[in-house]
Amino acid sequence: MAILEQSNAIGASIAGRQRPSHSTDQSTNLLTFVDFPASWYFFSLAKEVDKGPVSRHMLGQDLVAYRTDSGRIVVMASRCAHLGADLSKGKVVGDCIQCPFHGWRYAPDGHCTHIPLGHGIPPGARQETYPAVERHGFLFIFNGSNPLFPLPFFFDEEVDQFTPSAPVEFIGGSTWYMVAAHGFDTQHFETVHSRKLHAPLSVDCPDPYARRSRYTADVLGDAYYDRLLRRFVGPTVDISITTWGGTLVMVTGRFKRAMSQFIIAIQPIENGQSLCHVLPFARISSNRLSRIFLQPIDLWIRRLFTGAYLIAEVNCLGNPRYNATNLVEADKELIEYFQWAAALPGPTYSVSAKVRSDQRMVRGS
Ligand code: FES
Ligand SMILES: [Fe+2]
Repeated sequence: MAILEQSNAIGASIAGRQRPSHSTDQSTNLLTFVDFPASWYFFSLAKEVDKGPVSRHMLGQDLVAYRTDSGRIVVMASRCAHLGADLSKGKVVGDCIQCPFHGWRYAPDGHCTHIPLGHGIPPGARQETYPAVERHGFLFIFNGSNPLFPLPFFFDEEVDQFTPSAPVEFIGGSTWYMVAAHGFDTQHFETVHSRKLHAPLSVDCPDPYARRSRYTADVLGDAYYDRLLRRFVGPTVDISITTWGGTLVMVTGRFKRAMSQFIIAIQPIENGQSLCHVLPFARISSNRLSRIFLQPIDLWIRRLFTGAYLIAEVNCLGNPRYNATNLVEADKELIEYFQWAAALPGPTYSVSAKVRSDQRMVRGS
C-alpha cells in the first residue's frame, strides 16, 4: 500500500496548493476530473505562426498566437475585450496585436495599450494570456496564467540534443485521463500490446505533477512492427512512461540496440474525446553526413513505427470510459493513477471570470 499512500499524499499536496472544482465521492469511490487540467498543451507548429496570427478553439477558449516583431510568440484569448471581434483576423503592430474592428491594441501581457479614437483605456480592456514555449519547432501553451511546472522533456536528457519528426495526429475516443491511464493499465500491456511483463509495474511520482510507470517486458505479438522490433532491435524492452499534468506523456523504450522516445500531447475535445499529437524524437547524430542523409530516414521510420503502434490501438479500442464500479485487483495501478489524476487542478486565470465569460458569450452571437 506504500504506492497508494504516496499517491494520496501527492494528491493532497496538489489539492492543498490549488483546490480544483471537483470532488471525490468516497462512498461510491467515484472520482471526478477537471475538464482541462492546468498543464501544457500542443498548440501548433511554430512555423504556422510565422505566416500570421493563428487561431485555435481549444480548452474551451478561442485563442490566438502571434509572433511579435521582436520574434517572441504570444498566445492570448482571441475575442477582443471591447466587442468580441476576432484578434486572429487582426494584424501585428510591433509587439502588439491590433483588433480588426476598432483598432484596439493589446501588448504581450494582454493589456490594451492603444485605442485610436478613445479617451482613456478602461481597466477591463485586457486579454487573458497563456504562457507559451517554442521548442523543436512546436508551440506549447500552459492552461493558466502561471505554469505550475516547466514544459517537461525526457528525464536526464538535454533538449538541444534531440530532433523531432513531423507529428502524428489522431483522435482518441476517450477523455484525457483515460488516454493518460494507458501508462498504468497493467492488464492491457499484455492483451493489447502483446508485452509480457517480467515483474509488476514500478510506479512513482518524480514531481508533484508527474506520475511515472516503468517495466521490463518481452516483445511478443505478430504485428509487423513487433516482428521487426524483435529481429532488429531486441526481444525485450525497458519502458518508462511519465504523465505530466495528465496531458503530456513522455515515453521511452530502451531496446538492446535502439532507443524509442516520443511525447504524446493530449488535448480534450468534444464528446469526451481527445486530440492527440505524437512527437517522435531521435538523438541528433554527431556525424554531419549522417545528420543530412540518414537522420531524416531514421525519423521517418520512428514516425512510422510509433504511429502504427498507437493508431492500431486506437482503432481496436473504440471509446473506453471511466467506470469505478468494476475495477478489479489487477487494476491496482490504474486505480491509484485515477486517484492521482482526479486531484490534478484546473486552471487559474489573471483576467476576471466576468470578462472571460463575456468574451466567451460573444462566440456564436
Ligand atoms: S471589437 Fe476589438 S476594438 Fe472593438
Ligand atoms: Fe496502450
